[in-house]
Amino acid sequence: MNASQLTYADIQAIVSEDFAIMDKQVFGSLNSKVQLVMSVSKHVIDAGGKRMRPLITLLTARMLNDVQSEQAMQLAAITEMLHTATLVHDDVIDASGLRRGKPTANATWDNPTAVLVGDYLIARSFNLLVGFNNLPLLKLFSDGTCDIAEGEVLQLQHQHNPKTVEADYLQIIDGKTSRLFMMATKGAALLQGRDELLDDLGAFAYHFGNAFQMIDDVLDFSGNAAVMGKNLGDDLAEGKPTLPIIKTLDLLENTDPAAYDKLRIAVQTGKVDDVQVLIKLVQSSGALDYCKARALEETQKAQQALNNLPNNRYRQGLRLLTELASARLV
Ligand code: IPE
Ligand code: IPE
Ligand code: MG
Ligand code: MG
Repeated sequence: MNASQLTYADIQAIVSEDFAIMDKQVFGSLNSKVQLVMSVSKHVIDAGGKRMRPLITLLTARMLNDVQSEQAMQLAAITEMLHTATLVHDDVIDASGLRRGKPTANATWDNPTAVLVGDYLIARSFNLLVGFNNLPLLKLFSDGTCDIAEGEVLQLQHQHNPKTVEADYLQIIDGKTSRLFMMATKGAALLQGRDELLDDLGAFAYHFGNAFQMIDDVLDFSGNAAVMGKNLGDDLAEGKPTLPIIKTLDLLENTDPAAYDKLRIAVQTGKVDDVQVLIKLVQSSGALDYCKARALEETQKAQQALNNLPNNRYRQGLRLLTELASARLV
């Protein structure tokens, strides 16, 4: 089987039973006495989403020890709960109206409700994590959650700054995206006390997360909103210097100063008269090819790290997941 023939469902099928149990646990683990917390959480969780981080946890757990593990399924559900919380917060920050094909929590209720329910989801995740009675695991998740928040704050600091460079971008996505991928893999190893595998699992997840975010940022310029379930062009309208924008500015600075200025001012002011013109500028600059090549490099590094881990069908599943993500079929 190779990536051109397979679908995301084929990879889920490798751990189908674990996946189905985990999927029920994501919502089933919420037990708020407050009805509004339950309805907002249900709204976002029921909207779907790929459940990619929990899938990574389940595949990793089985790759290391091929038995069904209650703890692994619970941890997988927690990674999705945390992920959902970051999306609920992210949509407030980005003023996004569409997520997982449905109106966002902030659009359906309001910003304060979305912020507070996002907080609840993080708090509940830690509530559940304490139940593992595993201090290294708790430390991994508490450090990682700080890193995620820092990544989002760093991104905010760079908003409207056209001088943002690729190294800044890498620091941002390391926090806001790759960190949770690392928690998803390393957490599964910590449950089994397999500390000797943490470095390779961390390297795999770090590079996979980077590739995933790079492609997501490319798709903000070339994707299909209906397929993605979220509005596109948002990054530009918000003056968020993602890699496609950083690279376009870089390529235009010396070759087309007028176009460079147009994009620079749009990033700086966030005022975009005709977003389609700017999207075309990014598309025709060659920046998207550069980003795809960078994503491919990150995917290859992820796969190299994976080669040091136990070779079985679960490892094969993780490898195929990186291929699918880099071809952006998920
Ligand atoms: C969205 O993640 C946030 C990014 C890191 C780009 P996903 O694309 O995995 O979102 P869902 O969970 O499937 O909705
Ligand atoms: C992803 O950032 C959000 C987190 C990883 C917390 P983006 O803002 O790029 O993601 P989308 O495009 O809204 O899904
Ligand atoms: Mg966003
Ligand atoms: Mg995005």
